[in-house]
Amino acid sequence: MTTSNSRTADHAIDTLFLDRWSPRAFTGEAMPQEALATLFEAARWAPSAGNGQPWFFVYGHRGTDAFARIYETLDDGNRRWTDKASVLAVILSRTHRRAANGELRPIYTHAFDTGAAWHALALQATLSGYHAHAMGGIDREAAMAALQVPDGFRVEAGLAIGKIAPRETLPEDLAVRETPSQRKPASEFAFEGFFTGEKP
Ligand SMILES: Cc1cc2nc3c(=O)[nH]c(=O)nc-3n(C[C@H](O)[C@H](O)[C@H](O)COP(=O)(O)O)c2cc1C
Repeated sequence: MTTSNSRTADHAIDTLFLDRWSPRAFTGEAMPQEALATLFEAARWAPSAGNGQPWFFVYGHRGTDAFARIYETLDDGNRRWTDKASVLAVILSRTHRRAANGELRPIYTHAFDTGAAWHALALQATLSGYHAHAMGGIDREAAMAALQVPDGFRVEAGLAIGKIAPRETLPEDLAVRETPSQRKPASEFAFEGFFTGEKP
């Protein structure tokens, strides 16, 4: 058993997996570019099908036009707290690649691979004293246009990165929810032999 960050694992794991979580209360302090580069470096070494590395990040530091462009594409709910992120990013994946015969072919694992990369980044953020919070609440079309993303890519999620602030700095309804979440047990998703999970 491992306990950390108000979470208890059923089996012994590194505390890093419990310490990574998605807070909303950020300090808004500047993040040195070198610290951000460390996070992207962790993403860089994620595994991917055929080593295709179909992940991309477009980012902006707080106080820049690039930050504002990303902020404007987020849902209202996410805009309530991401103004205090040190860095905002949009996580993109390449959905198609051009084959030797010129044909555009879908990359079946683009989202799977990009998920691995974002999680590597999130774990490194925790190791580096930051937190990374992914957001599906983003206007994907608006983000594609605002960030000048060409066809053949998909907006997977928004991303807020920063240093944790006290929960009291959030609006009250968010402050009461500002706590690391729990998980269903592994026995509900890992089965020996046959699938015995809940039907949709
Ligand atoms: C793809 C994805 C989309 C998410 N979308 C949002 C979002 O729009 N807004 C938000 O506040 N949190 C969002 N989250 C955070 C999740 O709610 C959070 O990861 C989940 O509740 C587990 O909690 P934890 O990350 O703190 O362990 C998202 C996370 C992921 C991975």
